[in-house]
Amino acid sequence: MTELPRTFVLIKPDAVRRGLVGEVLSRFERKGLTIVALKQVQVTPELADEHYAEHVERDFYPPLRTFITSGPSVAVVLAGDEVVEAVRLLNGATDGRKAAPGTIRGDLSLSNRENLVHGSDSAESAAREIALWFPELEG
Ligand code: PPS
Repeated sequence: MTELPRTFVLIKPDAVRRGLVGEVLSRFERKGLTIVALKQVQVTPELADEHYAEHVERDFYPPLRTFITSGPSVAVVLAGDEVVEAVRLLNGATDGRKAAPGTIRGDLSLSNRENLVHGSDSAESAAREIALWFPELEG
């Protein structure tokens, strides 16, 4: 049997601080996605730099790094049909002020930094991010 596609999700420190981890996970589960792996992580500046490698030179990156290392996050691998696209639709647009109602960010965030959740933007990013955050799943 072919394995279902996987994606990487990071439930960010604002979601943990606000007690929204269950709410966010529940939206993915209710959609029909499967949790393949899950762990709480204190993100280090080094891990942040690797994860956001394509953004490290951007003006918005220094405060993003401070935010993403400011407290525990929850790292998740999800599986399901068209999971990369499904998660990005459920997450909503990057900026919570512009994200559609009904999405996680549209319902629960008013920020483009403290926007609760990250989802891989392609199958290639998902493979890279799963290997970075969950090396124990490899092999
Ligand atoms: S871009 O500009 O299209 O490359 O941005 P995007 O891929 O949508 O998101 C980049 C991640 O950086 C976080 N972030 C910001 N993006 C844009 N502008 C500002 N000011 C900003 N601050 C933080 C944004 O939340 C995205 O995080 P992830 O974890 O990838 O969702």
